[in-house]
Amino acid sequence: MTAVAAKGRGSGKIILTGEHAVVYGVKGIAAGIARGAHAHVELSDGPESRLTLGDRTVAADENGDDLARAFAALLGASAAGPPVVVNAVAEIPPGGGLGCSAALSVAIARAIDAAWSLEPDDQRVFERGMAWERVYHGNPSGIDTAAAMAGTFLVFERNVGHHTLYTAHDVWLAVAYSGSSASTKLMVDGVARIRTSRPELFEKFLNGVKSITDNAVYAIDAADAQTLGKLMDYNQMLLAGMMLSTDTIETMCKAARDAGALGAKLTGSGGGGSVIALGGMCPRGEANSEAERLANVIAERWSTAGFSAFATRIAATPAAGGVAPQPSDSSSEEHS
Ligand code: MEV
Repeated sequence: MTAVAAKGRGSGKIILTGEHAVVYGVKGIAAGIARGAHAHVELSDGPESRLTLGDRTVAADENGDDLARAFAALLGASAAGPPVVVNAVAEIPPGGGLGCSAALSVAIARAIDAAWSLEPDDQRVFERGMAWERVYHGNPSGIDTAAAMAGTFLVFERNVGHHTLYTAHDVWLAVAYSGSSASTKLMVDGVARIRTSRPELFEKFLNGVKSITDNAVYAIDAADAQTLGKLMDYNQMLLAGMMLSTDTIETMCKAARDAGALGAKLTGSGGGGSVIALGGMCPRGEANSEAERLANVIAERWSTAGFSAFATRIAATPAAGGVAPQPSDSSSEEHS
Protein backbone atom coordinates (compact mmCIF):
# COMPACT_ATOMS: atom_id res chain seq x y z
CA MET A 1 0.00 0.00 0.00
CA THR A 2 1.28 3.51 -0.78
CA ALA A 3 1.75 6.19 1.84
CA VAL A 4 -1.06 8.46 0.58
CA ALA A 5 -3.80 8.52 3.22
CA ALA A 6 -6.79 10.75 3.78
CA LYS A 7 -9.68 11.12 6.19
CA GLY A 8 -13.28 12.28 5.84
CA ARG A 9 -16.26 12.92 8.11
CA GLY A 10 -20.00 13.06 7.64
CA SER A 11 -22.62 14.18 10.17
CA GLY A 12 -25.58 12.19 11.34
CA LYS A 13 -28.84 14.08 11.00
CA ILE A 14 -32.13 14.93 12.58
CA ILE A 15 -35.14 16.09 10.61
CA LEU A 16 -36.95 18.81 12.52
CA THR A 17 -39.84 19.02 10.06
CA GLY A 18 -40.76 17.55 6.70
CA GLU A 19 -39.61 13.94 6.42
CA HIS A 20 -41.47 12.08 3.65
CA ALA A 21 -43.07 15.31 2.41
CA VAL A 22 -39.63 16.35 1.11
CA VAL A 23 -39.70 13.35 -1.24
CA TYR A 24 -42.60 15.16 -3.01
CA GLY A 25 -40.92 18.56 -3.18
CA VAL A 26 -42.19 20.11 0.07
CA LYS A 27 -39.58 22.03 2.10
CA GLY A 28 -38.14 20.43 5.22
CA ILE A 29 -35.74 21.48 7.98
CA ALA A 30 -32.86 19.19 8.86
CA ALA A 31 -29.66 19.53 10.82
CA GLY A 32 -26.38 17.68 10.99
CA ILE A 33 -25.41 16.48 14.46
CA ALA A 34 -21.96 15.89 15.90
CA ARG A 35 -22.28 12.11 15.85
CA GLY A 36 -21.92 10.67 12.39
CA ALA A 37 -19.29 8.64 10.57
CA HIS A 38 -15.65 8.86 9.66
CA ALA A 39 -13.56 7.20 6.99
CA HIS A 40 -9.89 6.59 6.37
CA VAL A 41 -8.63 5.96 2.84
CA GLU A 42 -5.32 4.77 1.42
CA LEU A 43 -4.38 4.17 -2.19
CA SER A 44 -4.29 0.45 -2.86
CA ASP A 45 -1.47 -1.55 -4.41
CA GLY A 46 -4.04 -4.11 -5.56
CA PRO A 47 -6.31 -4.05 -8.62
CA GLU A 48 -9.63 -3.34 -6.85
CA SER A 49 -11.12 -0.91 -4.35
CA ARG A 50 -12.14 -2.38 -1.01
CA LEU A 51 -14.29 -1.07 1.84
CA THR A 52 -14.26 -2.28 5.43
CA LEU A 53 -17.23 -1.34 7.59
CA GLY A 54 -17.35 -2.97 11.01
CA ASP A 55 -16.62 -6.65 10.56
CA ARG A 56 -17.35 -6.66 6.80
CA THR A 57 -15.00 -6.07 3.91
CA VAL A 58 -16.32 -5.82 0.35
CA ALA A 59 -14.83 -5.07 -3.04
CA ALA A 60 -16.63 -2.45 -5.13
CA ASP A 61 -18.98 -4.56 -7.26
CA GLU A 62 -21.99 -3.43 -9.29
CA ASN A 63 -23.42 -6.96 -9.03
CA GLY A 64 -22.65 -7.52 -5.36
CA ASP A 65 -24.72 -6.99 -2.23
CA ASP A 66 -26.01 -3.57 -1.20
CA LEU A 67 -22.76 -2.47 0.45
CA ALA A 68 -20.62 -3.57 -2.53
CA ARG A 69 -23.01 -1.90 -4.99
CA ALA A 70 -23.28 1.30 -2.96
CA PHE A 71 -19.49 1.50 -2.79
CA ALA A 72 -19.20 0.92 -6.56
CA ALA A 73 -21.88 3.54 -7.25
CA LEU A 74 -20.11 6.10 -5.04
CA LEU A 75 -16.78 5.49 -6.75
CA GLY A 76 -18.31 5.68 -10.21
CA ALA A 77 -20.51 8.74 -9.63
CA SER A 78 -17.92 11.35 -10.53
CA ALA A 79 -14.22 11.80 -11.21
CA ALA A 80 -12.37 8.47 -11.12
CA GLY A 81 -9.02 7.58 -9.60
CA PRO A 82 -6.81 4.62 -8.67
CA PRO A 83 -8.08 1.77 -6.43
CA VAL A 84 -8.48 2.64 -2.76
CA VAL A 85 -8.69 0.81 0.55
CA VAL A 86 -11.36 2.38 2.75
CA ASN A 87 -12.03 1.87 6.46
CA ALA A 88 -15.28 3.44 7.63
CA VAL A 89 -16.80 3.70 11.10
CA ALA A 90 -20.37 4.72 12.01
CA GLU A 91 -21.06 6.37 15.36
CA ILE A 92 -24.86 6.09 15.05
CA PRO A 93 -27.10 3.02 14.64
CA PRO A 94 -27.76 1.85 11.07
CA GLY A 95 -31.44 2.19 10.16
CA GLY A 96 -31.93 4.25 13.31
CA GLY A 97 -33.36 7.30 11.54
CA LEU A 98 -30.25 9.37 12.23
CA GLY A 99 -28.84 9.27 8.70
CA CYS A 100 -26.17 6.62 9.27
CA SER A 101 -25.96 5.65 5.62
CA ALA A 102 -25.69 9.25 4.37
CA ALA A 103 -23.07 10.07 7.02
CA LEU A 104 -21.02 7.08 5.89
CA SER A 105 -21.30 8.00 2.22
CA VAL A 106 -20.23 11.61 2.82
CA ALA A 107 -17.32 10.54 5.03
CA ILE A 108 -16.15 8.02 2.41
CA ALA A 109 -16.64 10.42 -0.52
CA ARG A 110 -14.68 13.17 1.20
CA ALA A 111 -11.84 10.85 2.14
CA ILE A 112 -11.61 9.34 -1.36
CA ASP A 113 -11.61 12.74 -3.06
CA ALA A 114 -8.83 13.83 -0.70
CA ALA A 115 -6.83 10.64 -1.35
CA TRP A 116 -7.18 11.31 -5.08
CA SER A 117 -5.96 14.88 -4.50
CA LEU A 118 -9.14 16.35 -5.97
CA GLU A 119 -10.07 19.90 -4.99
CA PRO A 120 -12.87 19.78 -2.35
CA ASP A 121 -16.14 20.10 -4.24
CA ASP A 122 -19.52 19.94 -2.48
CA GLN A 123 -21.40 19.10 -5.65
CA ARG A 124 -19.14 16.10 -6.29
CA VAL A 125 -19.51 14.86 -2.70
CA PHE A 126 -23.30 15.27 -2.98
CA GLU A 127 -23.37 13.27 -6.23
CA ARG A 128 -21.26 10.48 -4.74
CA GLY A 129 -23.42 10.44 -1.60
CA MET A 130 -26.64 10.30 -3.62
CA ALA A 131 -25.32 7.44 -5.77
CA TRP A 132 -24.71 5.46 -2.55
CA GLU A 133 -28.09 6.41 -1.07
CA ARG A 134 -29.97 5.33 -4.21
CA VAL A 135 -28.74 1.76 -3.71
CA TYR A 136 -30.18 1.67 -0.20
CA HIS A 137 -33.22 3.93 -0.46
CA GLY A 138 -34.38 3.80 -4.08
CA ASN A 139 -35.64 7.36 -4.42
CA PRO A 140 -33.94 9.50 -1.76
CA SER A 141 -34.80 13.18 -1.67
CA GLY A 142 -31.23 14.10 -0.73
CA ILE A 143 -32.11 15.66 2.63
CA ASP A 144 -29.98 13.15 4.56
CA THR A 145 -26.99 13.72 2.26
CA ALA A 146 -27.35 17.51 2.50
CA ALA A 147 -27.49 17.37 6.32
CA ALA A 148 -24.56 14.93 6.47
CA MET A 149 -22.51 17.45 4.51
CA ALA A 150 -23.73 20.63 6.19
CA GLY A 151 -23.47 19.64 9.84
CA THR A 152 -25.84 22.49 10.74
CA PHE A 153 -29.47 23.62 10.22
CA LEU A 154 -30.62 23.77 6.63
CA VAL A 155 -33.83 24.25 4.71
CA PHE A 156 -34.07 21.58 2.03
CA GLU A 157 -36.23 21.58 -1.09
CA ARG A 158 -35.85 18.75 -3.55
CA ASN A 159 -34.75 19.72 -7.06
CA VAL A 160 -34.42 23.33 -5.92
CA GLY A 161 -31.58 23.08 -3.44
CA HIS A 162 -30.87 23.76 0.19
CA HIS A 163 -29.60 26.68 2.15
CA THR A 164 -28.25 27.19 5.62
CA LEU A 165 -30.84 28.30 8.15
CA TYR A 166 -29.19 31.23 9.85
CA THR A 167 -30.11 31.63 13.50
CA ALA A 168 -28.79 33.56 16.45
CA HIS A 169 -29.86 30.83 18.86
CA ASP A 170 -28.76 27.28 19.56
CA VAL A 171 -31.44 24.60 19.64
CA TRP A 172 -31.23 21.87 22.28
CA LEU A 173 -32.78 18.51 21.47
CA ALA A 174 -32.97 15.15 23.15
CA VAL A 175 -32.54 12.23 20.75
CA ALA A 176 -33.37 8.58 21.44
CA TYR A 177 -33.31 5.38 19.43
CA SER A 178 -36.54 3.40 19.68
CA GLY A 179 -34.61 0.12 19.53
CA SER A 180 -36.03 -1.05 16.22
CA SER A 181 -35.23 -0.07 12.67
CA ALA A 182 -37.32 0.09 9.54
CA SER A 183 -36.22 0.23 5.93
CA THR A 184 -36.46 3.80 4.60
CA LYS A 185 -37.36 2.40 1.20
CA LEU A 186 -40.30 0.42 2.61
CA MET A 187 -41.58 3.41 4.60
CA VAL A 188 -41.30 5.69 1.54
CA ASP A 189 -43.11 3.03 -0.54
CA GLY A 190 -45.87 2.93 2.10
CA VAL A 191 -46.46 6.67 1.74
CA ALA A 192 -46.51 6.28 -2.06
CA ARG A 193 -49.28 3.68 -1.65
CA ILE A 194 -51.34 6.10 0.47
CA ARG A 195 -50.81 8.73 -2.22
CA THR A 196 -52.49 6.38 -4.69
CA SER A 197 -55.19 4.94 -2.45
CA ARG A 198 -56.11 8.08 -0.48
CA PRO A 199 -55.06 11.13 -2.53
CA GLU A 200 -57.05 13.62 -0.39
CA LEU A 201 -55.38 12.45 2.82
CA PHE A 202 -52.02 12.64 1.08
CA GLU A 203 -52.66 16.22 -0.15
CA LYS A 204 -53.67 17.27 3.39
CA PHE A 205 -50.43 15.76 4.67
CA LEU A 206 -48.32 17.68 2.16
CA ASN A 207 -50.16 20.97 2.76
CA GLY A 208 -49.94 20.53 6.53
CA VAL A 209 -46.20 19.84 6.45
CA LYS A 210 -45.62 22.76 4.09
CA SER A 211 -47.24 25.14 6.54
CA ILE A 212 -45.42 23.54 9.52
CA THR A 213 -42.03 24.01 7.88
CA ASP A 214 -42.75 27.60 6.86
CA ASN A 215 -43.83 28.43 10.41
CA ALA A 216 -40.91 26.55 11.96
CA VAL A 217 -38.50 28.73 9.96
CA TYR A 218 -40.17 31.82 11.48
CA ALA A 219 -40.19 30.27 14.96
CA ILE A 220 -36.47 29.51 14.81
CA ASP A 221 -35.77 32.99 13.51
CA ALA A 222 -37.81 34.51 16.34
CA ALA A 223 -36.30 32.14 18.95
CA ASP A 224 -39.88 31.09 19.77
CA ALA A 225 -39.23 27.65 21.21
CA GLN A 226 -42.82 27.16 22.45
CA THR A 227 -44.18 27.53 18.92
CA LEU A 228 -41.43 25.40 17.46
CA GLY A 229 -42.33 22.63 19.91
CA LYS A 230 -46.03 22.80 19.00
CA LEU A 231 -45.12 22.59 15.31
CA MET A 232 -43.08 19.45 16.00
CA ASP A 233 -46.12 17.95 17.75
CA TYR A 234 -48.34 18.79 14.75
CA ASN A 235 -45.81 17.26 12.40
CA GLN A 236 -45.85 14.09 14.52
CA MET A 237 -49.67 13.93 14.28
CA LEU A 238 -49.48 14.19 10.49
CA LEU A 239 -46.78 11.52 10.32
CA ALA A 240 -48.88 9.21 12.50
CA GLY A 241 -51.80 9.80 10.12
CA MET A 242 -49.61 8.45 7.33
CA MET A 243 -48.98 5.25 9.34
CA LEU A 244 -45.36 6.17 10.00
CA SER A 245 -45.47 6.11 13.79
CA THR A 246 -45.46 3.11 16.13
CA ASP A 247 -46.73 2.44 19.66
CA THR A 248 -43.15 2.76 20.94
CA ILE A 249 -42.65 6.11 19.19
CA GLU A 250 -45.93 7.42 20.64
CA THR A 251 -44.94 6.23 24.12
CA MET A 252 -41.56 7.91 23.76
CA CYS A 253 -43.13 11.19 22.57
CA LYS A 254 -45.53 11.15 25.52
CA ALA A 255 -42.73 10.42 27.99
CA ALA A 256 -40.76 13.36 26.57
CA ARG A 257 -43.73 15.74 26.84
CA ASP A 258 -44.42 14.52 30.41
CA ALA A 259 -40.79 15.33 31.21
CA GLY A 260 -41.32 18.90 29.98
CA ALA A 261 -40.39 18.69 26.29
CA LEU A 262 -41.83 21.56 24.26
CA GLY A 263 -42.55 19.14 21.43
CA ALA A 264 -41.62 15.65 20.24
CA LYS A 265 -41.72 13.69 17.02
CA LEU A 266 -40.14 10.86 15.12
CA THR A 267 -37.20 11.83 12.94
CA GLY A 268 -36.42 10.20 9.60
CA SER A 269 -38.47 7.52 7.94
CA GLY A 270 -40.38 6.27 11.03
CA GLY A 271 -41.75 2.78 11.58
CA GLY A 272 -39.10 2.60 14.32
CA GLY A 273 -35.87 4.55 14.21
CA SER A 274 -35.40 7.58 16.43
CA VAL A 275 -37.39 10.26 18.22
CA ILE A 276 -36.41 13.87 18.93
CA ALA A 277 -37.76 16.20 21.61
CA LEU A 278 -37.24 19.92 22.01
CA GLY A 279 -35.57 21.15 25.19
CA GLY A 280 -35.57 24.75 24.00
CA MET A 281 -33.39 27.46 22.50
CA CYS A 282 -30.67 29.59 24.01
CA PRO A 283 -28.34 32.35 22.83
CA ARG A 284 -25.43 31.04 20.80
CA GLY A 285 -22.92 29.10 22.89
CA GLU A 286 -24.65 29.76 26.24
CA ALA A 287 -23.56 27.24 28.87
CA ASN A 288 -25.92 25.61 31.38
CA SER A 289 -29.05 27.04 29.77
CA GLU A 290 -32.57 25.94 30.73
CA ALA A 291 -32.85 24.47 27.21
CA GLU A 292 -29.79 22.27 27.80
CA ARG A 293 -31.00 21.24 31.25
CA LEU A 294 -34.39 20.21 29.88
CA ALA A 295 -32.89 18.30 26.94
CA ASN A 296 -30.80 16.33 29.44
CA VAL A 297 -33.83 15.68 31.68
CA ILE A 298 -35.72 14.27 28.68
CA ALA A 299 -32.76 12.14 27.61
CA GLU A 300 -32.50 10.79 31.17
CA ARG A 301 -36.22 10.00 31.23
CA TRP A 302 -35.87 8.00 28.00
CA SER A 303 -32.77 6.31 29.24
CA THR A 304 -34.50 5.26 32.47
CA ALA A 305 -37.20 3.72 30.28
CA GLY A 306 -34.50 1.65 28.53
CA PHE A 307 -33.82 3.70 25.39
CA SER A 308 -30.39 4.81 24.27
CA ALA A 309 -30.58 8.61 24.42
CA PHE A 310 -28.46 11.74 24.35
CA ALA A 311 -28.89 15.50 24.36
CA THR A 312 -27.48 17.51 21.50
CA ARG A 313 -27.01 21.16 20.65
CA ILE A 314 -27.67 22.29 17.08
CA ALA A 315 -25.34 25.23 17.01
CA ALA A 316 -26.59 28.59 15.81
CA THR A 317 -25.32 29.47 12.37
CA PRO A 318 -24.46 33.13 12.00
CA ALA A 319 -25.35 34.92 8.80
CA ALA A 320 -22.76 35.34 6.05
CA GLY A 321 -19.93 37.52 7.23
CA GLY A 322 -19.99 36.00 10.71
CA VAL A 323 -18.00 33.03 11.95
CA ALA A 324 -18.00 30.20 9.39
CA PRO A 325 -20.54 27.43 10.06
CA GLN A 326 -19.01 24.36 11.71
CA PRO A 327 -20.34 20.81 11.81
CA SER A 328 -20.18 21.21 15.54
CA ASP A 329 -23.31 20.56 17.50
CA SER A 330 -21.97 19.38 20.79
CA SER A 331 -23.43 16.22 22.18
CA SER A 332 -23.54 15.87 25.91
CA GLU A 333 -22.90 12.52 27.49
CA GLU A 334 -24.75 9.41 26.39
CA HIS A 335 -27.69 8.51 28.62
CA SER A 336 -27.89 4.79 28.27
C1 MEV B 1 -35.30 9.82 5.58
O1 MEV B 1 -34.34 10.27 6.51
C2 MEV B 1 -36.11 10.97 5.07
C3 MEV B 1 -37.24 10.60 4.14
O2 MEV B 1 -37.97 11.79 3.85
C4 MEV B 1 -36.73 9.97 2.85
C5 MEV B 1 -36.01 10.98 1.95
O3 MEV B 1 -36.22 12.18 2.08
O4 MEV B 1 -35.26 10.51 1.10
C6 MEV B 1 -38.21 9.61 4.78
